[in-house]
Amino acid sequence: MIRIAPSILSADFASLGNEIHRVEQAGADVLHVDIMDGVFVPNLSIGLPVVKCARPVSALPFDVHLMIVEPWKYLEAFAGAGADWLTFHLETSPDPDVIRAALRKIRSLGMKAGLSVKPATPPEALFPFLGELDLVLVMTVEPGFGNQKMIPECLQKVGAIRKEAERRGLAPLLSIDGGVNPSTAQAARASGCDVMVAGSAVFGAEDPAQMIRLLRGEDEG
Ligand code: DX5
Ligand code: ZN
Repeated sequence: MIRIAPSILSADFASLGNEIHRVEQAGADVLHVDIMDGVFVPNLSIGLPVVKCARPVSALPFDVHLMIVEPWKYLEAFAGAGADWLTFHLETSPDPDVIRAALRKIRSLGMKAGLSVKPATPPEALFPFLGELDLVLVMTVEPGFGNQKMIPECLQKVGAIRKEAERRGLAPLLSIDGGVNPSTAQAARASGCDVMVAGSAVFGAEDPAQMIRLLRGEDEG
């Protein structure tokens, strides 16, 4: 079954513990945590202290999405704060050795290693790293803000990555991030992804359990 990863970017941070409980009880599989530095993306969000405080509140895996420059400087810190899956952006370095070393470091710290691509980055750019990856995060909006409209063309990358991974006997988790809501969920599921990140749809829902079922396609028919 497709896993749903609510993004706490759309949570009420004044009651973060309750917000996390709410989506956990509603059936979330993973908690997506968006870290923004105002440099890699034109917005600031949260950082290490929030991850650290949220960690004991939840049993869900923490899927930490770094939208920051020089992410390799902070890998130990995020491991220490409680990240289970740690994803950074392929666009942070033109040097494949730098990317590869960071991915290996993430795994050596006991986390799942993820690489994310912005909408303009072709799926083939990920292929040299597939052997080092536990997770690929395909952005379906420009990173930086929640509650944007999905760019549906980005969904096609999932199939291309899956095909290449299978050809090489690899099975990374494929996740999509941005603009997932009841109107885009069917197309998103049809992309063949394993995980769907959804921020505003889940945290903005009156009944998050029903929303999660809807996104999974369980409430149809
Ligand atoms: C965007 C973030 C997303 C975002 C998703 O930069 O990476 O995780 O919070 O939010 P929605 O689901 O509202 O598009
Ligand atoms: Zn994200």
